[in-house]
Amino acid sequence: MTLEVFARALPKAELHLHLAGAVKAETFLKLARKNGVNLPPFAEVEELYRYDNLVDFLQVYDLVARSVVSADDFHLITYEALAHVANAGGRYVEFFFSPQVHQDAGISYETMFSGILKAMDDADKDFGLISRLIPAINRELTPDRAFEFLDLVLPYRSEKVIGIGLDYDEEPFPPAPFKPVYERAKKAGMRLTAHAGEAGPAANVRDALDLLSVERIDHGYRVLEDPALVRRCIDDGIAFTVCPSSTVILTHWRDLTAADHPIHAMLDAGLKLVVATDDPPMLQTDLAKEYRLLSETMSLDRRTLADLALNSLDAAWLDESTKRDWRAAWSNEISHLLTAGERAA
Ligand code: ADE
Ligand code: ZN
Repeated sequence: MTLEVFARALPKAELHLHLAGAVKAETFLKLARKNGVNLPPFAEVEELYRYDNLVDFLQVYDLVARSVVSADDFHLITYEALAHVANAGGRYVEFFFSPQVHQDAGISYETMFSGILKAMDDADKDFGLISRLIPAINRELTPDRAFEFLDLVLPYRSEKVIGIGLDYDEEPFPPAPFKPVYERAKKAGMRLTAHAGEAGPAANVRDALDLLSVERIDHGYRVLEDPALVRRCIDDGIAFTVCPSSTVILTHWRDLTAADHPIHAMLDAGLKLVVATDDPPMLQTDLAKEYRLLSETMSLDRRTLADLALNSLDAAWLDESTKRDWRAAWSNEISHLLTAGERAA
């Protein structure tokens, strides 16, 4: 069995995917034309998804988001994103979306949520993929705007709308000002995560844990700058959702084969890592490719990939009894996959 087939067949949970970042370039083009959104000049559609840093990427991300207007548009992009995950062997998804960028384009929360939630139901019915939604706060906007976000999001809280995140450019916008927002979300029963230590320092990872009370860290690479914090995260079993292709395109860690690439160093340090895609079509990837890339560039064997896949289930916001059942089923599948791999070798 080739590594590609193995990585696809491995049962995996996707825990870090942004909906607007999961829109295929062709779909972006179609929606932008339908909804009268001006695009930069391009010869081939793929050129729309070219950038080499986070700030430029986020501008295109916002353009994609602004191309999504009707409930049917939200349904289309969500259904396609979930199909893309299922096609890569994802069995369960927790995905972010950015209500504020749509709100600023004049779209109501009712429109966004109705299209997205219907697509989540359809994906479950049509191809058995269970998904959960994590509305995420744009940290570049004010904490007041984040409170307004909560006013609009919390009425949708349910088994499906499970938690909140914090994203966009971290470097100038640290987590601390969002402490009271996170406190309120926690009181309302929301699960909590935040992007930290991607573009900002290790102190942001500590503040996300201490001030925002997050349960997981998205990216978190710069935790490595603080060995005591690394130790604490290992002891507390904090999961980090790490996104290999995203580091190559959106950070200065461009070489996945380098021994000091943070994902490699985080693995070596013994941190609990969950492999994820961030923005799959916008970064020309899918979940299976991210596992394969890690194996190829960091010489990880198949047992290690399987352990990472099981980490994704452990870190998921599913109830404990479901996790126990799935863990038994996934472990069984993994044993067969590993044995089949040995036979083929
Ligand atoms: N939104 C989409 N991808 C992101 C990333 N890597 N960092 C911050 N915000 C994002
Ligand atoms: Zn992200």
